[in-house]
Amino acid sequence: MEEDDDFEIEHVEPYSCVFCSEPIEDENAAVTLTATWMPHWRAAKFSPLAQDFWCHSACLQKNWHGSWPWEPHVLFGVDTGDDRDYAESLALTVARPEDRADIEDMLGLAYEEGLHRSYGSDLVEEVLPFLTVLDPALLTCGTFYVMADMDGQIAACGGFTREAPGSGEVIEGVAHIRHFATHPDFAGFGVGSRLFQHCLKEAKAAGLREFVCYSGLNAEGFYRTLGFKRENLIEIHMAEGVILPGILLRRLI
Ligand SMILES: CC(C)(COP(=O)(O)OP(=O)(O)OC[C@H]1O[C@@H](n2cnc3c(N)ncnc32)[C@H](O)[C@@H]1OP(=O)(O)O)[C@@H](O)C(=O)NCCC(=O)NCCS
Repeated sequence: MEEDDDFEIEHVEPYSCVFCSEPIEDENAAVTLTATWMPHWRAAKFSPLAQDFWCHSACLQKNWHGSWPWEPHVLFGVDTGDDRDYAESLALTVARPEDRADIEDMLGLAYEEGLHRSYGSDLVEEVLPFLTVLDPALLTCGTFYVMADMDGQIAACGGFTREAPGSGEVIEGVAHIRHFATHPDFAGFGVGSRLFQHCLKEAKAAGLREFVCYSGLNAEGFYRTLGFKRENLIEIHMAEGVILPGILLRRLI
C-alpha cells in the first residue's frame, strides 16, 4: 500500500446546509454563517475562525438560538466576527457554596498567569496560597458571580460586597470589588468586562454610589479600562509578613 492511501479524503459539498445537510439550490433562500470560534480551551486558547458555511434560511430560523455546538468542538456566530459575542454566550450566575472547588481551581490558574506579569516568582509563590482561598461569605452574599461555558467550565468569577475585604468595615454607599479573575484560556475576550458591567448594574440597582478596588499591579490596566482611577499605591497584607504591593482604585457607580 502506498503511504498516501492511509488517508481518506472526504468530499465536502460546498453548498449544502449545515443543519439538514441537503444541497442549497436557491441561494436567495440561503444564509452564510461565519464560524467565529474554535474553543481549544483545554489545550490552548479560543482561536477566532473565519470559515464560512451555508444553510437554508428556514433551517436557520428553526435552529438558531444565539450560539450552539454544531460539532463537539465548534461554535458559530452568525456573520459577526466580534470577539465580544463570545462573552455574551457564557452563562452568568450567582456563585454558590458548591462552586467553591471549581472557582478556587480557576483562581489558581488565573492568578498564577496574571501575577507573573508584575511580580517575581518568589513573591507569586508566597501569595498564591492566600489568593486562591475564597472567603466563604462571598459564596452566600448574592453579589459574587461566576461565568461558565456550555460544558460548565468556569470561565471567570468576580463580584462586590458592602464589607471591605479583611476588615469587614461597611461605609454607606460604598461597594468593594472582590476577586475578579478570568481563566487564562478565556482571557482577553471581554469576559471580565461583561462580569463588571453586570456588577455595575446590580450595584446601581442597590443604590450604591462608589466602587473601591484593591488591585494587584498586574490588573490596574483592566480596571482602568472599566473607568477606575488610581488613588495610590498600597500594601496588601495577605498574612503575617506576606505583603503584596498593589493599587487602590475607585470608580463612581
Ligand atoms: C484582570 C483579568 C480579570 C481580566 O480579565 P479578562 O476577561 O481577560 O478581561 P477583558 O477581556 O474583559 O478585558 C477588558 C479590557 O481590559 C483590558 N485588559 C485586560 N487585562 C488587562 C491587563 N492586565 N492590563 C491592561 N489591560 C487589560 C483589555 O484589553 C480590555 O480592553 P478593551 O475593552 O479596551 O479591549 C484577568 O486577566 C485575570 O484574571 N488576571 C489574573 C487575576 C487578577 O489579577 N485579578 C484581579 C484581582 S485584583
